Amino acid sequence: MTADSIVEHQLTAGRAGEPDETPRAPRRGSVTAQFEEIFFEQYVRYFKAAEKRRRWSVEKDIAWDKEAGSASDTTALIVESFCAVEMFLPDYTHRIMELIRRSRGRAWFQANWGYEESKHSMALETWLIAAKKRTQEQMEQLERDLLGAEWNLPFETPRQMICYTMVQELATGVNYVNLRRRAQDEDDHVLTSVLRWLSADESAHYNFFRRGVKAYLELEPVETVADLRFVFENFAMPAHALIPEWEKRGAAIEQAGIYGPRVYLGKIFKPILEDLGLTRQQLKDAGIPTEDADSMADWREQADADKKLARYNRFTSLPAIPSR
Ligand SMILES: [Fe+2]
Ligand SMILES: [Fe+2]
Repeated sequence: MTADSIVEHQLTAGRAGEPDETPRAPRRGSVTAQFEEIFFEQYVRYFKAAEKRRRWSVEKDIAWDKEAGSASDTTALIVESFCAVEMFLPDYTHRIMELIRRSRGRAWFQANWGYEESKHSMALETWLIAAKKRTQEQMEQLERDLLGAEWNLPFETPRQMICYTMVQELATGVNYVNLRRRAQDEDDHVLTSVLRWLSADESAHYNFFRRGVKAYLELEPVETVADLRFVFENFAMPAHALIPEWEKRGAAIEQAGIYGPRVYLGKIFKPILEDLGLTRQQLKDAGIPTEDADSMADWREQADADKKLARYNRFTSLPAIPSR
């Protein structure tokens, strides 16, 4: 498999990209010990998969020598804006690390996550300069402008923060997938290839956090559903208030169809509820209006029934008589 086809697979194999199973909690020890076991096991699994399939180098895995720069100025503004969001990495890593320091699985993940995220702003910045959309000096100025502000945790507890990072990672992934499509339409092969790697990373991050939220749903269902509701009601993408001229940037992003309330609802909010497999009652408790919760639950029950029927048909139907 080539590097390209691996990433292509990550992007097309579905939102989650990996089999959707609830992490199995070992039925012993305190709830904290059970979480620990699940998180560490999930981290090892994540790390192994990343080492095997997803490691990439900013320098070597992007064809910087191909002509860069056919992307529009609006695309460049959007890239610069996403680069600015990624530049708050020191705050994301240290503030979250402080909160989850006691969990080895989550803390080790956080360290690995920080390494992966550090390449995102580097790759975006390298593209902006290589494509002559920004000069080195302009990027340094942006960095200085951002240095004065610090990002703070939007939620207080480790459980709320894992719900938040799950939503935020899927949203970031969707942003990059949409922006990649735009880069493709504008024939910018270099930017397309940068965004391929970034989307694959974000999709893997989403999967780790999603599995974590599923573990919480299994061991602390009522509290987790309440946290999901709280996070959904107060969700905002990180650092926008800290980035100069975000109003202009946000408007360009929305106008380009990359991200906005409609994308959030259809590509983030609803898919997450599906991925988590919440019950009818849990959907209602998570703040979904009764009618929507019922139609989602009906759809899911029907899909489960169809799946069962398909399995039944496969095992019970006779093989076709071969025609000569
Ligand atoms: Fe990122
Ligand atoms: Fe990420």
